[in-house]
Formats: sequence, structure tokens, C-alpha cells
Amino acid sequence: MASFSLFYRMPVLPSPIVEITDPICEKAGVRLWLKRDDLIHPHISGNKWRKLKYNLRFAKEKGYPTLLTFGGAYSNHLAATAAAGLENGFKTIGIVRGERPLALNPTLRFLLECGMTLHFVSRKDYREKPPEFWLEHLCLDATTTFVLPEGGSNCLAVKGCAELPAEVEGQLGFLPEVFFAACGTGGTLAGIAAGLKGRSRAVGVSVLKGDFHEGAIAELLRHCDEKAGNREVLTNYHFGGYAKFDDRLIRFINEFRARHRIALDPIYTGKLLFAVFDQVQKGAFTEGTNILVLHSGGLQGIAGFNERFGNKITV
Ligand SMILES: Cc1ncc(COP(=O)(O)O)c(C=O)c1O
Repeated sequence: MASFSLFYRMPVLPSPIVEITDPICEKAGVRLWLKRDDLIHPHISGNKWRKLKYNLRFAKEKGYPTLLTFGGAYSNHLAATAAAGLENGFKTIGIVRGERPLALNPTLRFLLECGMTLHFVSRKDYREKPPEFWLEHLCLDATTTFVLPEGGSNCLAVKGCAELPAEVEGQLGFLPEVFFAACGTGGTLAGIAAGLKGRSRAVGVSVLKGDFHEGAIAELLRHCDEKAGNREVLTNYHFGGYAKFDDRLIRFINEFRARHRIALDPIYTGKLLFAVFDQVQKGAFTEGTNILVLHSGGLQGIAGFNERFGNKITV
């Protein structure tokens, strides 16, 4: 198991904002700002840091010794929760979607290094069984085990992400007219929209097939008693579905890295930035618009992706 001192880092906050200069933006007369949440922490990075912040504080205050959560075999959320658990003195348990692979990928190896106990479950059970089932099945006590939903998307996560717009406004001295974020569960976008309170537009880029996000985000905001209009989710940049990709996406990610010296992951931020540039090129924004794009991390997944698909992403 990795040692505490190996992991402990003060978070870099506020995370830096860099301007991305590019002929496409210049031609359209828009300015693109990248919020580098990927730099907050080497292992609890991006939106994960913001989503876990109040959850961990709550679990500590209430004296929960154990965190239980859910994710796929390459999950950024599992990786961040495992690292945060190690750093903050929680025992962590991960319910992993799918059979245990013969050879563990880099993400799964990292989870074990952090001391997370893993339970591999069938895709059917993962989809159908509620958290209470897993508590009972694993003989865990609900009074000592704090359950985080898949992706960490609950009201405390929304509260953490809602801090982002004010942080950006404080750094830039103005509020960009548009905020972009990648959408998995939609929790991050819900938080950004809640923080914006309609003052700017929150635009999500869905990395999954389907048009369920509007409903899911509205439901989460209602549940959390947050009001947030002026938002939309773009549903045509998923490249075939979750973790699907094509040569255009890979080329875009590698060229972006070569040009701007910033890494993007193929599951979330690669699709996000691809969508932003495509929208700018298509004239979706009037001249003078400031666009803030959230780099939500996820870079830990590149090693597993490259191992599986043959070093497609330049590192
Ligand atoms: C790197 C990264 N970016 C964006 C997202 C999307 O966040 P959300 O699930 O809150 O929509 C996730 C997780 O799902 C992620 O791991």
C-alpha cells in the first residue's frame, strides 16, 4: 500500500486559468480560457476534488471511518476517492462494474496501491442493485460507512462545483459569458449552473450516447433545492458513446497537446475541447464572447487507454 506521505499534497487553489490562443478563436473573435482543475492535485484532480471536498468534510465531521463508492474499471472517481481516502484517513471500498480482469489495468492497480478494497460485480447487478444492497451484501454498517454515488454526484458535490464560477470571476475580474464542462452524470454541470445562477450560460458536452442529461440535471438540482436556468447539454459529441473514439478525436487530442502543451484525456476532456472548437468554428458565439472551459482532469485514465488500444495518446 502506498504511504500517506507519498500522496499528501496541498491542493493548488484557485487552479490556474490559461488563455488558449488559436487561429480558430481569433477568426471567430472569441477568447478561450481553460480552467486548469487538472492541476489541483496529482491524484484528486479536476472536478473530483471539487465533488469530494464537502463529502469528505461531512464524512469526517460525522465520524464515518469508511467510504463506499462505485465505478468502472478505469474510473476517475474511484481513483480520486481511493487517493482521498488514503490522504484523509478513511478506509475505502470500491464496487467495480464487470468481472475482475486477469491482468489489472493501471487504474485498478492504483486503487489497490491506495488500499481500496475492490469488489468486482456483474454489469447487471451493478446496474440494478441499490447501494443498500451492497451494504447488506458486504455486511457493512450504514452508521459507519458513508456511501458516495457513482461519479460522486450528490448535493455536496453540487455545492463544491458551484464554487467554480465565483473562483473564475475573482481570478479574471469578470465572468465569462459561457462556461463549458464535460458531462458524465451531469453533477459538475449542475453545480456550475447552480453557481452561475443564470448570470452566464452553462454548456455541457455529453460523453455518452442519449439525451437523458437535461432530465437528470434538472432532477439533481431539484433534489438539492438549487435553481439554475440558462443551461444546455450538447449531445452530438460522444463519438459513438462512452469511451468510444475515432481517429479524428485522437488526432485532435495529440495536436492540442503538441500546440498548447496541455494533455487531454480521450473519455471526457478530449471530447469537450473538440466540441468547443467545433462550436466556435461553426459560429455559435458572437464576437467578443469569453468562453471558460473546465479542464476536469481524468488524465490518470490515459495509461489504461494506451495499454488497451496501443499508445494512441501521446504522453
Ligand atoms: C475527468 C472527468 N471529467 C468530467 C466528468 C463528468 O462529470 P459529471 O459526472 O459530474 O458529469 C468526469 C466524471 O464523470 C470525469 O472523470
